[in-house]
Amino acid sequence: MSRAPSPIVLPPAKRIPKLVSEYLTPPDTLFTFEFDTYDIDESFLLKNIVGHIFLRMMQDTDWRGGGEIGSTSSSSSSNICGLASPEHHGTLATFIHLVCNHYRNNPYHNFQHAVNVLHSTYILLHRAHYLPRIPPAFVFATLIAALCHDVDHPGNTNSYEIHSNSALAMLYNDNSVLENHHCHLTFTLLEQSGLKNVLLNTVGVDGYRACRQVIIACILGTDMSKHSELLRTFEAATALVPAAAAAAPAVGAGANDIRDDSDDGEEKGGSVFGTEEAVLLLKCVVHFADLSNGTKHFEAVHFWSTKISEEFWIQSLHEEQLGLPSLSFMKARDPLSMCVNELMFLRNHVLPMWEGWVRKCPDMHFLVEAIQRNIREWEALEQDYRHTHEIHSLTF
Ligand code: CMP
Repeated sequence: MSRAPSPIVLPPAKRIPKLVSEYLTPPDTLFTFEFDTYDIDESFLLKNIVGHIFLRMMQDTDWRGGGEIGSTSSSSSSNICGLASPEHHGTLATFIHLVCNHYRNNPYHNFQHAVNVLHSTYILLHRAHYLPRIPPAFVFATLIAALCHDVDHPGNTNSYEIHSNSALAMLYNDNSVLENHHCHLTFTLLEQSGLKNVLLNTVGVDGYRACRQVIIACILGTDMSKHSELLRTFEAATALVPAAAAAAPAVGAGANDIRDDSDDGEEKGGSVFGTEEAVLLLKCVVHFADLSNGTKHFEAVHFWSTKISEEFWIQSLHEEQLGLPSLSFMKARDPLSMCVNELMFLRNHVLPMWEGWVRKCPDMHFLVEAIQRNIREWEALEQDYRHTHEIHSLTF
């Protein structure tokens, strides 16, 4: 009679504590695809990283020539450069602080994940040469959406909210329950911090409404049930806008480095996107960023997979207690099941999605290569676990 497999203990992901002083200046890898927050769980450091990303965005963006909302020319004058002014940095810092405080300590959906998504959103926009072609206020709104896209996430799925008849499910009529909550809270925090007024004063009422449209689209677009629809949107949006410049990386720059070939998008790019096409594109970019873990190095990939598995497992325990339906993959927490789940997720969702991105931005093929490498890593781990399982079954 075969015995139940012995539990195999997965080695913990390597953790290197970061010193506060390291982030008073940005880490060298911050503006590359190598960066990941998996080894930074200190909120002060994470807030510092967020500050660096917003500052970099403000420095990189041509606030005078980047185009007004609704304009189609990249050379039109604009009144939005006020947003980048140092006098507003304090308000931005207050906002970042408030957002950080409203993320919960979930295994996965926490401030660390939020900073990762903000980071990926920024470098995707930059590297795809979209930045100079999007009105700066829209870029700003997109970064706000990326940072806030999971704020106050309770650590369970929409399905759990709906089946447990939660107050949020009642409020949002079972429709993108969590995303609506994140979005509503984002606007509350924008108001509380004073950043809404700064935006209003710099871009005006119509500009603010357009920024609000961007934030709503980007946050609601992170609902995984809209994934397939969003991939179609991406195809449509990128058909509307000219393909991103397929620039080869500058000599000496790493393939995934955004530093040395920045700021040349305008020459390659053409005019500023109109509001409708920009909104479509930006909501896709935030969704891509939300599913960008698989494009990182395996240590980070493994870390985040462990964290999402833990969060799923905790939800399954609550579902069991409450007698609610549960998805079987959420209950499986052993390393072999984790490999199987991750392979399914990477092969069925993550890889096809990033292949779509790379068709539009061919010089970013290294992202697809990274996912393929990670698939091979999971396959090797799966083989190891199956082999160990067989040995255990035979020996005992
Ligand atoms: P959410 O953050 O709401 O939107 C993206 C979803 O993708 C996320 O919830 C998870 O449900 C899922 N997801 C993200 N990373 C992984 C992963 N490594 N393995 C399985 N599912 C994932």
